[in-house]
Amino acid sequence: MSDTRPLAVITGGSSGIGYELAKQFAGHGYDVAISGQSERVFDSAESLRGLGVEAYPHRADAATYDGVEGFWTFVTDLARPVDVAVLNVGIGLGGAFVDNDLDDELTLIAINVTGTVHFAKRVVQHMVPRGEGRILIVSSLSATTPTPYETVYGPSKAFGFSFAESLREELRDSGVSVTALLPGATNSDFHANAGMGSTDFGDNSWKNDKTLVAAQGYEAVIAGIDHVVGGDDATKQEAIDNRTTPETVKAARMAEKTRPRS
Ligand SMILES: NC(=O)c1ccc[n+]([C@@H]2O[C@H](COP(=O)([O-])OP(=O)(O)OC[C@H]3O[C@@H](n4cnc5c(N)ncnc54)[C@H](OP(=O)(O)O)[C@@H]3O)[C@@H](O)[C@H]2O)c1
Repeated sequence: MSDTRPLAVITGGSSGIGYELAKQFAGHGYDVAISGQSERVFDSAESLRGLGVEAYPHRADAATYDGVEGFWTFVTDLARPVDVAVLNVGIGLGGAFVDNDLDDELTLIAINVTGTVHFAKRVVQHMVPRGEGRILIVSSLSATTPTPYETVYGPSKAFGFSFAESLREELRDSGVSVTALLPGATNSDFHANAGMGSTDFGDNSWKNDKTLVAAQGYEAVIAGIDHVVGGDDATKQEAIDNRTTPETVKAARMAEKTRPRS
């Protein structure tokens, strides 16, 4: 254990973009605390230790109050200041709203929205009295467009983006910075887990590289900028174009990519 290395906390740091972010922090000399829903969080921590830092794994369900609070208690039990908090955990859900199970949609909101607010509350109340800290909230390019056939997911990510920008302004003079990461489609298990295998998003080959996305997120939170779009030049251009494209046009375009094929 190190008391001299800074500490980064990453929710959903056991796989996907979160794990790549944990690797970024470990590679830059941070100890890392990571959460995940499955046993693999322990193997992921072991791999991160291979980068020469300490890694603290915690398994909990981020869809529940106790799961979110439990990870924060785990972090505070380390009795170390949190230098960087990455609010990354999030799930998707594809399919038509008329058909989808309400429980699945409420679980998505519990993780992506309620859980983000809950963990942010603990982090902010930890960092502000210390007068320092950095927060990275993982939103999505989906925050910049309607997302038919992911009709609850996109709005949950729009919440994350607006929440980050709002909190950032409130904390302007506190010494705590808030940054949003808006990845475009990225090659993780995310879309498979979201049941989107029979859409354009079922194929990972065309998507952004999660290592690149994580590197961009790391640089942005360390620089303390307000937000960064994660991905290649085309992804960044899409974010720019989305600012001036009518919502109805974006919605129709998105439906072509997200509508399940029968
Ligand atoms: N991939 C994309 O195309 C994309 C694009 C834009 C934004 N994002 C955002 O990026 C973030 C990370 O997504 P990803 O692509 O890395 O997804 P992912 O590969 O599915 O990884 C999700 C992570 O969250 C954990 N997790 C999922 N459900 C959980 C639960 N109920 N309780 C605790 N942990 C849970 C997983 O744990 P296990 O390892 O144990 O399963 C894993 O560590 C999300 O907020 C997502 O909205 C992703």
